Amino acid sequence: MGKKAFITGITGQDGSYLTEHLLDLGYEVYGFARRNSVTEHQQTRIENLMNNVDLTYGDMLDQSSIDKLLKRVNPDEIYNLAAQSHVRISFDVPQFTVQTNALGVLNLLESVKINAPNAKIYQASSSEMFGNSRDADNMQRETTPMHPVSPYGCAKLFSYSLIRNYRKAFKLFASNGILFNHESPRRGANFVTTKIIKNAVLISKGKINTLELGNLDSKRDWGHSKDYVRAMRLILNHTEPDDFVISTGETKSIRDLCKIVFSKLNLNYEDHVKINPKYVRPDELSYLCGDCSKSKKILGWKPKYSFEELVDEMLEYFL
Ligand code: NAP
Ligand code: GDD
Repeated sequence: MGKKAFITGITGQDGSYLTEHLLDLGYEVYGFARRNSVTEHQQTRIENLMNNVDLTYGDMLDQSSIDKLLKRVNPDEIYNLAAQSHVRISFDVPQFTVQTNALGVLNLLESVKINAPNAKIYQASSSEMFGNSRDADNMQRETTPMHPVSPYGCAKLFSYSLIRNYRKAFKLFASNGILFNHESPRRGANFVTTKIIKNAVLISKGKINTLELGNLDSKRDWGHSKDYVRAMRLILNHTEPDDFVISTGETKSIRDLCKIVFSKLNLNYEDHVKINPKYVRPDELSYLCGDCSKSKKILGWKPKYSFEELVDEMLEYFL
C-alpha cells in the first residue's frame, strides 16, 4: 500500500499540483476543504482529482477538525499549505492571517504530537520572511537574517520558528521549505503575474484598455509551482528534518514582467499600465533573489521550467 499524505490547503495552487504529483507516485491523498457559501467554485483546481482524494471539511482554526483527521488517517506525511497567502490582504485582515498562518500551525503541531507523532510535517514557509534583508552578494539563503515587513511575513516567521522548536524539543520530523514566489495558470487572479498576464490578454483582444498596478519597481524570483511541489516531497523524504530554500536564483522587476508580457502580445505596456495607490502596500519587500545551492546539493532538486516557459504557459492559458 502507498504512503498516506494529508494536505492542508489542497484546494489552492500548490495543493492541486502536489496532489497530482503524489497520486502519480502512488500515495493515498487526504485533504481539508473549508466550508464556503459558493460550493461550485471551491474545488475547481482539483475537480479532475475528486474521485482519487479523500476530502473532508476542516479548518486550521478548528483544532477538533485536525484531531479527527489525524486520528482517522494517521498519515505518513503532512503538507501544511493552508494559509491566507496574499501579502497585501494580510494588512486588511491581519488577525485572520495570523490566526491561520501562525496559530493554525501550532494547532497542527500540538495535534501531531498527540495523534500522529511519527508523521513527517512539511511547513510552507516563505521568502516573505526575509523582508528587506539580503546577503552581501544580493541573495537570500537559509542563513540570511529574517526581518519580515508584513503581517503575512511575521506570521510565517512565527510558524517557521515553531517548526524548528518542535523538531528539537519534541523530536518531530518537521521541516521548512522556504519557497520563493511560484506561479502557474492556477495562480489566484489577484497575484501580480496572473493579474498582468490575464489583463494584458484582455487588452490585446480589445476588451479593456487599462491595467492598474501598484509598485512596479519591486523585484521577485519567480518559478513554476509544478517544480516547487516536487521539492516539497523531496524535503520530507530526506533522511533528516531540515530547512531548505527553493528558488530559481534569477530576479526581475514587475516592470520587466510587464514589458515582457505586453511585448509578446505586440503591445507597449506604457500605453496601458497605470499606477493606482490602492495597490501600493503600507510596507514593501523590494527585492528577492534566492540561493538554493543547499537544496541542489542535498536534495538533488533543480527547476525544470525557465521563466520564459512559465510566462508562455500562463499566456497560452489566458489566450
Ligand atoms: P493559495 O492558492 O492561496 O492556497 C491556500 C490554501 O489554503 C487554499 O486551499 C485555502 O482554502 C487554504 N486555507 C486558507 N485559510 C485556511 C484555513 N483557515 N484553514 C484551512 N485551509 C485554509 O496558496 P498557494 O500559492 O497554493 O500557496 C501554498 C502555501 O505556500 C501557502 O501557505 C503560502 O503562504 C505558501 N507560499 C506560497 C508561495 C507562492 O509563491 N505561491 C511562496 C511561498 C510560500 P480556500 O480555497 O478555501 O481559501
Ligand atoms: N498582487 C499585486 N497586485 N502585486 C502588485 C501589484 C498589484 O496590483 N502591483 C505591484 N505589485 C507588486 C507587489 O507590491 C509585490 O512587490 C509584487 O508585485 C509581487 O506581489 P504578489 O504577486 O502579490 O506576491 P508577493 O511577493 O507579495 O507574495 C507571494 O510570494 C510570497 C513569497 O515571496 C505570495 O505567493 C506569498 O504567499 C508568498 O509567500
